[in-house]
Amino acid sequence: MPTPVDIAPARGKLGVLLVGLGAVSTTTIAGVVAIRNGFARPIGSLTQMGTVRLGKRTEGRSPRISEVVPLSSLDDLVFGGWDIFEDDCYSAARTAGVIEPALLDRVRTDLEQIRPWPAVFDQRYVKRLDGPNVKKGANKKELAEQVVADIRRFKEQHDLDRLVMVWCGSTEVFMKASPAHQTIESFECALEKNDPAIPSSMVYAYAAIREGIPYANAAPNLSADIPALVELAARTKTPLAGKDLKTGQTLIKTIIAPGLKARLLGVDGWYSTNILGNRDGEVLDDPESFKTKEESKKSVLDYILQPQLYPDLYADLCHVVRINYYPPRGDNKEGWDNIDLVGWLGYPMQLKINFLCRDSILAAPIVLDVALFLDLAKRAGMHGIQEWLSFYFKSPVHAPGLYPEHDLFIQLMKLKNTLRYLKGEELITHLGREYYD
Ligand SMILES: NC(=O)c1ccc[n+]([C@@H]2O[C@H](COP(=O)([O-])OP(=O)(O)OC[C@H]3O[C@@H](n4cnc5c(N)ncnc54)[C@H](O)[C@@H]3O)[C@@H](O)[C@H]2O)c1
Repeated sequence: MPTPVDIAPARGKLGVLLVGLGAVSTTTIAGVVAIRNGFARPIGSLTQMGTVRLGKRTEGRSPRISEVVPLSSLDDLVFGGWDIFEDDCYSAARTAGVIEPALLDRVRTDLEQIRPWPAVFDQRYVKRLDGPNVKKGANKKELAEQVVADIRRFKEQHDLDRLVMVWCGSTEVFMKASPAHQTIESFECALEKNDPAIPSSMVYAYAAIREGIPYANAAPNLSADIPALVELAARTKTPLAGKDLKTGQTLIKTIIAPGLKARLLGVDGWYSTNILGNRDGEVLDDPESFKTKEESKKSVLDYILQPQLYPDLYADLCHVVRINYYPPRGDNKEGWDNIDLVGWLGYPMQLKINFLCRDSILAAPIVLDVALFLDLAKRAGMHGIQEWLSFYFKSPVHAPGLYPEHDLFIQLMKLKNTLRYLKGEELITHLGREYYD
């Protein structure tokens, strides 16, 4: 039997720092409060409902994940966060319009106590937004110190044992890693010099990682996905995860595409379009923010279908992704996919998918799971990029030189095998010869 990893117990309270108190954050917080009061169920959350098979199929051992590894209980979570708007979490949730008012009113007192701290914000990186609740500072280094001060005050005020941070802020404009992002020294120098290569999300990420607080990015912008912050995470032993929550259309894409490839069906074209009316949709209506999202959404098929291995089937794939801002729909996104397939002897077929989903309802359980699993990783001494959390992301962060794994089913196997590894259980290979020997 392998040896279990030494994991510190999930003692005391866990502070969950959310950057941006918009639709995703407020749906997560209101949901957790509703669930812990018994008003609703945690559907979609692996940490709350998932099981993991241990041992052989004949042993009949499939405990809940929360019984296998020590996770923080929902009762021990304390939420805090930043936003450029001053609304408390209750009014922000009303504005987001995801959860119905009747349920929100039942958790109102808890939500009203969560008031966002002033944000690190610069409109240069999110063109469609502007708000009054913004920090002032001589340079970005000073702003990072203010974020650290917010975190320390919050920790003391609520007597927290540990913290995690998730960027749930708007998608920033498209940027590529530049020289300022290469080393801790160049990054800190860029902070002091107010270098435009450092967007707001990197300031928060830097503050968290320097404090050894696990950091995840729910959006597609670079944020912690740069060598300097990965190096800082190694130094401060901080786990990292990201980017861009795998919800809606991309979730479906990473469910369908592995199936088509498994049966070696060709794909000539995949046209995806969305109509979306929330604030996220409004931000993504700006071409520079959309470009960040588009890159994140488009890479998925290339990695799953592997056109370099199957040129006859996928080399000419035309993949188009559109997001249209359409206010009447609010958070209830509608995704349309048209897939042009090719079968035996080259005969064409079509598959149409119309997903009437709720964006933040799909996102909230992911934020919860990622927060709890990152805290677990920290207590288990795992730091740097947590590839086993790829399951939750559209653009999984990965080591240089490795290609990211996008297939949802491989990602789930990786996640569950990581839990088995932590517990000192045999990994499941699905070879299964022992049942027939
Ligand atoms: N909803 C989903 O299913 C989903 C899926 C994948 C990714 N995402 C991403 O998650 C993020 C949040 O989505 P949402 O639907 O909650 O959007 P939203 O617009 O409702 O919320 C974002 C919030 O972040 C705030 N904000 C922006 N910049 C900030 C800063 N620098 N500091 C503090 N606050 C800041 C905004 O004021 C806003 O309240 C977006 O980037 C979105 O693309 C969402």
